[in-house]
Amino acid sequence: MSDLSIRPATVEDAHDINVIYNEFIVESHVSFDTEPWTDEEREAWLASQIDAGYAVIVAADGAGVIGAAWSGPWRDKAAYQTSVETTIVLIPGSEGSGLGTTLYRRLLADVTDRSFHRAYAIIALPNNASIALHRKLGFSEVGVLDEVGHKVGEFHSTMLMQLKLDSV
Ligand SMILES: CC(C)(COP(=O)(O)OP(=O)(O)OC[C@H]1O[C@@H](n2cnc3c(N)ncnc32)[C@H](O)[C@@H]1OP(=O)(O)O)[C@@H](O)C(=O)NCCC(=O)NCCS
Repeated sequence: MSDLSIRPATVEDAHDINVIYNEFIVESHVSFDTEPWTDEEREAWLASQIDAGYAVIVAADGAGVIGAAWSGPWRDKAAYQTSVETTIVLIPGSEGSGLGTTLYRRLLADVTDRSFHRAYAIIALPNNASIALHRKLGFSEVGVLDEVGHKVGEFHSTMLMQLKLDSV
């Protein structure tokens, strides 16, 4: 992976991000979306994330985007504006070699630079890799919402994890 770059996303990355994320929407419980997004929806989302000052970071090699990590609003009500929700996805086959750590570290550095106070991750269970990554980067477990969603024929719980960004 010598030609790996980790960089802020541009709207031109929307298609690649969409291909990666849609696979998790269609094939797994990892995303609680149930319908794949169109490229136009992903482009509009990406443009609005960037305009609103949220960090969206991609990992790319010579073949294109192989992972993405982003922050977004935690909840809509105004007092929540000091917090972000963060997430990460890698293209299948890129897991387990440290890329998630590298990409998420960059996202968290960017979010910290933007002076957010808390980051939250909602992890649909089971997902040992995601829990391990979040723990490694300093997130702590807040709690589990028991069977809060139904996806691919089963109920799934989610784990809420939080990071105090001023401690990064
Ligand atoms: C979650 C994900 C981003 C992790 O990225 P990754 O590149 O595989 O993670 P890393 O190789 O950087 O490993 C990070 C830590 O997790 C551990 N880990 C990785 N996979 C693991 C697994 N399946 N079970 C337990 N621990 C695991 C690693 O050992 C490492 O810890 P260490 O450095 O103390 O040994 C990646 O697996 C992925 O994209 N999964 C599918 C999408 C997803 O679940 N996204 C998260 C949504 S909340």
